[in-house]
Amino acid sequence: MKRLHKYLLGLTALAMPLSVQAEEYRLGLITPPPHQWTVSATEAAAEIKEKTDGRVDILLFPSGQLGNEAQMLQQLQTGAMDFAFFTLGEFANRDPNYGIFLAPYLVDDVAGARELLKGQTAQKLLDNMADFGLVGFGWGMAGMRIIVTGPEVETVGDLKGKKIRTIPFAPELAFWEALGAAPTPMPLPALYDAFANGQVDGMQIDVEGTWNTKYYEHANSIIISNHMMFPMAAVGSGRKWQGIAEEDRAIIDEVFARKLDEMVVGYGEIDARYKADLETTDVPVTTVGRDWFGPAIDTWYEEWREKAPMLVELEAEANK
Ligand code: BEZ
Repeated sequence: MKRLHKYLLGLTALAMPLSVQAEEYRLGLITPPPHQWTVSATEAAAEIKEKTDGRVDILLFPSGQLGNEAQMLQQLQTGAMDFAFFTLGEFANRDPNYGIFLAPYLVDDVAGARELLKGQTAQKLLDNMADFGLVGFGWGMAGMRIIVTGPEVETVGDLKGKKIRTIPFAPELAFWEALGAAPTPMPLPALYDAFANGQVDGMQIDVEGTWNTKYYEHANSIIISNHMMFPMAAVGSGRKWQGIAEEDRAIIDEVFARKLDEMVVGYGEIDARYKADLETTDVPVTTVGRDWFGPAIDTWYEEWREKAPMLVELEAEANK
């Protein structure tokens, strides 16, 4: 009788879809624990665990603990990790259409960025994540990009020849080259030390990171240019996704989509709050607009409309 009971228990376990049993999943991202991406990921993981009654337990690995984004993308493709929050770098370097969100002054502010990130071009790009072996859950962002420099910068001419840290990301490199600067790609976790020891003269970065990671400690100019939005893609491993029960997939989808939208909406306030904090430091904070950059922006658009045909679609959406 005992043996029959054991046999039946074994059969029941075999018949259960994988994710009906509690399972741990790994979510990797490059931002440090205080950053909003990590905060939103933590909240999403807690809610998913609760709503799936513990069946889907997502563990977080911030600050690039699972590797840089190129390494994490590979791990997602092989199924060695499960979820990630990514900048656009790895996607744009494989398909230039993923770089179009970085078009300078495409939108004025976070509210404009939110509209585009919920629009049809953004949705197409999310669906096309399947070509990378990924499932796209939605778009987040890290607010609008600003410029922080060690040397004082008043005019765009002062940026000439300066080593400006960027993401290794063709549309960003093109923008800084058009300005006559020397774009210097560098992963986020290496940036504080590189700026402190003068390996780079400045950076384009988010307002939040400038305050939280204290880049301002080594700066003599903070330029609130808001010149680009900075999207984030929340993705999962296509391979692992297949093994998760449909009911749990629906919960993961819904929670990520809602948390990402809350994040995007929140960045209006986050950027304003950290800008106010930066204004309490000794570093001059200047606000500039598109004209400050001169003809480099038009040059950028001419080049990228050819390289990334979906840019034209996105511009049409932005102009609506
Ligand atoms: C950056 O590399 O500049 C960055 C990445 C993620 C969030 C914010 C900034």
